[in-house]
Formats: sequence, structure tokens, C-alpha cells
Amino acid sequence: SLPKKVKIVEVGPRDGLQNEKETISAELKIELVNRLTSAGFVNVEAASFVSPKWVPQMATSGEVMRGIARKPGVIYSALTPNMKGFEAALEAGADEVVIFGAASEAFSQKNINCSIAESIERFREVALAAKQNNIRLRAAVSCAFGCPYQGEVPLSSVSDVVGRFRDLGCDEIDIADTIGVATPNKVAPVMQAAIREFNIDGLSGHFHDTYGQALANIYASLEVGITIYHSSVAGLGGCPYAKGATGNVASEDVLYMMQGLGIETGIDLDIVVDAGQFISQHLGRKAVSRAGNAIAAK
Ligand code: HMG
Ligand code: MG
Repeated sequence: SLPKKVKIVEVGPRDGLQNEKETISAELKIELVNRLTSAGFVNVEAASFVSPKWVPQMATSGEVMRGIARKPGVIYSALTPNMKGFEAALEAGADEVVIFGAASEAFSQKNINCSIAESIERFREVALAAKQNNIRLRAAVSCAFGCPYQGEVPLSSVSDVVGRFRDLGCDEIDIADTIGVATPNKVAPVMQAAIREFNIDGLSGHFHDTYGQALANIYASLEVGITIYHSSVAGLGGCPYAKGATGNVASEDVLYMMQGLGIETGIDLDIVVDAGQFISQHLGRKAVSRAGNAIAAK
């Protein structure tokens, strides 16, 4: 049977907006985060402390983190590829830092400019600092289902990286379909490989919807017992280092499906729909959520 309850991590303000070409004001990002927490999300990925030369849109992350109306009980997460990022996240008051590696060597080089092994050494310092400062530690495993540069990614690479992240003391590990290539039959083997290395309650499904498979892949993950999912309001996003990648699965679509399945999320779908329409209007386009647009049109 499927889980009765899941945690949905809203990643739109980070994964969604990081790829936008036009500069988005910190004010608008702050308003978006506040709307999302008022909808009931208890974990929002709000910032990314990476090199502004690599991802210019995230350069205002400190301002965004400091400007948010902090809601008690909400975990505000930030990406931190190295100690420089960690120091900035700490100063900005992040509750959780996210180290991000890959199951593909080629993607690791393109995304963070180092090998998988080198990345783990960099992350070791960050992990230690997070523990010392009582900050939650999460890790993302990119390209767990396929890589834009090397194609196939063996299951053994997923197990290996998940095991290394476990050994760094991660509280949560994200199994990411960076370029949205997975189909539902591919989900169980990859998730099982991760489950063999890490406790199932700490694993999440991070699905991009590039090929329209994300909801089906989430359903397949529910069937193996995964209880944490990432989604992006209005389906915002893409990845600057994965050409052609589109956004994460839309939060509205995931919430609609969970509601229909009778799975508790604690999130008010109507408020999320409004937030999705709000940000899409500001970006000058239609929201990329079928459920969101259907509900908004009523
Ligand atoms: P590098 O060039 O190898 O690093 O980049 P470096 O240590 O040689 O530093 C180069 C310059 O960057 C220096 O500045 C540093 O100070 C600066 P300069 O002296 O040239 O003026 N720098 C920084 N500035 C601000 N914050 C920092 C920082 N670190 C160095 N933390 C680095 C290595 C990792 C920094 C770089 O490759 C980078 O920033 N990459 C960003 C990649 C990224 O953000 N990708 C998107 C997020 S991941 C994602 O979306 C996938 C995910 O959603 C899961 C999935 O879907 O797969 C999570
Ligand atoms: Mg992503």
C-alpha cells in the first residue's frame, strides 16, 4: 500500500528560478517564498550560495534569506557547494544546507567543476561544519536516472554516491532525475539501490518533468515507499548545466495527485495555485502546471 503521508519540499524559489535569464528582484523571490510557506510547505529551498559567475540569478540569495518572513517550524534550505557557500548560508540563517553531487562523472565536471571524488572531499568540510553548527544536512544525487553528457548511469554509481553521502552524515538524500529521462519502470531499481545504502525515510524523489514522466515516476516511487518529494510551483525551472532540461514537476500537479490518492501533505492547494499564477504573471508567461491552470480557470 502507498504511504499515508508525504513531505513535499518546494524547490521553485531555487531550482525553479536559478535558470531565469532576466534578473528577478529579491523582493519578488521573498514574496514567493512567503506565499509558499503560508500555503503550508514546511520545507522550502529558498537560496543557493554558488558562484555568481556560474549562476547569476542566485546572487541575491543572502538578501532573500534575510528578507523572508520566517515562519516557525519551516526549514529554509540553501545549496552550498563548498565552505565559501556554507559560510554565506550560515550567516544568512539557513536551517538546512544542501551539498550537491552527481552519480555521473561528466555531469560533476560540468556542474561543479570537479570529479565525484573531489566533490566528496569538498563536501566533507561542509558536512562537518553543518554538524558543528547544528544545521541539517541534505545531499542531492544528480543524474541518478541518466546524464546529458554520458547517457546511461549504472546503478552501482548511484549506490556508491548515496553511500558516500550517508558516511558524511546526511540527514536526507535526494535521488534526482536532473533531465527528466526516467520512465516508471526505471524508478524501482534506482530507488532500491539507494534504499540499500540509506534509510528509506530519508530519501527523496527529485523529478524534473522534461519528458512528461514526473508524476508517473512519483507514483512509482510511492509504490516503493518513498515519502519525500520535491516539486516546483508553476513548474518553474530547468538546470543551467543540463541543456534542454525543463522545470521540476509542478507542485500543483503533485498536490492534486496526492489529494486524489488520499495522501496527506498538509498543504493548501488553492494557495499554491495562487502563488503559481502570481509568479508566472511576474515572469510574463503561463504557469507550467496542468492542475494549476485548470483550478485557476474555474
Ligand atoms: P570553481 O571555479 O571550480 O571554484 O567553481 P573556485 O573555488 O576556483 O572559485 C572560482 C571563483 O568562484 C572565485 O571567485 C571564488 O571566490 C568564487 P574569483 O576569485 O574568480 O572572483 N566562488 C564562490 N562565490 C560565491 N559562492 C561560492 C563560491 N565558491 C567559489 N560558494 C563552484 C566551483 C562549485 C563554486 C562552481 O562550479 C559553481 O558555483 N557551480 C554552481 C553550479 C550550480 O549552481 N548548478 C545548479 C545547481 S545544482 C542543480 O540544479 C541540480 C539539483 O537541482 C538536483 C538535480 O536536479 O539534479 C540540485
Ligand atoms: Mg533539480
